[in-house]
Amino acid sequence: MKTTISQVSNYVEQTVTIGAWLTNKRSSGKIAFLQLRDGTGFMQGVVVKSDVSEEVFQTAKNMTQETSMYITGKIVEDKRSPFGYEMQVSDIEVIHVANDYPITPKEHGTEFLMDHRHLWLRSKRQHAVMKIRNEIIRATYQFFNENEYVKIDPPILTGSSAEGTTELFHTKYFDEEAYLSQSGQLYMEAAAMAFGKVFSFGPTFRAEKSKTRRHLIEFWMIEPEMAFVDHEESLVIQENYVSYLVQSVLENCKLELDILERDISKLEQVKAPFPRISYDDAITLLKEKGFTDIEWGEDFGAPHETAIAESFDKPVFITNYPAEIKAFYMKPDPNNPDVVLCADLIAPEGYGEIIGGSQRIDDLQLMEERYDQHGLNGPAYKWYLELSKYGSVPHSGFGLGLERSVAWISGVDHVRETIPFPRLLNRLYP
Ligand code: 4AD
Ligand code: MG
Repeated sequence: MKTTISQVSNYVEQTVTIGAWLTNKRSSGKIAFLQLRDGTGFMQGVVVKSDVSEEVFQTAKNMTQETSMYITGKIVEDKRSPFGYEMQVSDIEVIHVANDYPITPKEHGTEFLMDHRHLWLRSKRQHAVMKIRNEIIRATYQFFNENEYVKIDPPILTGSSAEGTTELFHTKYFDEEAYLSQSGQLYMEAAAMAFGKVFSFGPTFRAEKSKTRRHLIEFWMIEPEMAFVDHEESLVIQENYVSYLVQSVLENCKLELDILERDISKLEQVKAPFPRISYDDAITLLKEKGFTDIEWGEDFGAPHETAIAESFDKPVFITNYPAEIKAFYMKPDPNNPDVVLCADLIAPEGYGEIIGGSQRIDDLQLMEERYDQHGLNGPAYKWYLELSKYGSVPHSGFGLGLERSVAWISGVDHVRETIPFPRLLNRLYP
């Protein structure tokens, strides 16, 4: 019977065949322990000299790392391993012998591993991070589908920009100038006016010259947009969504969190509601914490966000930033037009901003003013203004950065490990 490592619990005391690769090996004159992986999981195969032919034992003993094979044996319970099962091997059919695999079980430097990302992905740790990424994507679709959102795919090649023009990737669109999307938001607003509640999930691009552990050049964003939903209601949706993601990972990725040695007691606390602090109060808090130079009107950097997050054991919303430092589409606070109805959600443990969101302007005259202030009067923005013209309604939305969320929930230091093939300031390879 051919099966996979993920399914072996269904075959205890039965003989099965698994297509696998060798990740590591220990052997003596009488026994060989093969560490196997097949993409679905990791398992040990035990080859006892006296139980197999001499040829099979020699194959096992001499097998090199990343050699591929069909391996056959009886599945037994193994109380000592976190996985819980191992294989008592009876036969091995080598498919391809790998020689001099570059990533050995010893420690390697980060640049070396990044140069070998196409192979590094095979490692247990990277496997665990990608499985958590996959669970967050799965839970995202489930959450929004259960709440009657329609998945809408905004374009990647665009003529407009939502988040300002300084970080755009330019490209030619035949004879026109085009950009790679830095956010699908403007299109999602159009979609919300057509479908009510929508969400997107796709790649976004920022030509940011930032070399930090939170910045990617290409990253994936989940962008919900909701008609007839105000800022406060949007915050509730955001905290419910993020709690749902964390609880889904806790429930469905126990083995992966264990491999990554994640302190899950911190994640277990992540349940809605989340604390909120206004930008004004955040400034006061920062001054108390020793950031004496910070002035009202300045944007927060990573050290500020980390200092604010330290005061809370859950993600925290920083609300109502000065209009000056936020995007053109954000709705001013009716009680104080110097600030906008927006929030950034800051993850605990120094992982920084994972969500940026706001209520959007729904008034034609104000939008026209913003167009003038921001010089958006080119043809690329004509369609977006029309949304404020025909049955405009209060609406809000937000963007969750997938990689930063994966980094936080997995507990990995740097976003480069949270996407299969990271695009970084100095890296387009592999
Ligand atoms: O705060 P941002 O720029 O918001 C927007 O783009 C809005 N248009 C979203 C919306 O309302 N629909 O980006 C949203 C999130 C950030 O909170 C962060 O998690 C992530 O995207 N992000 C990045 N992640 C990795 N690398 C980068 N360079 C990122 N820039 C933003
Ligand atoms: Mg932001």
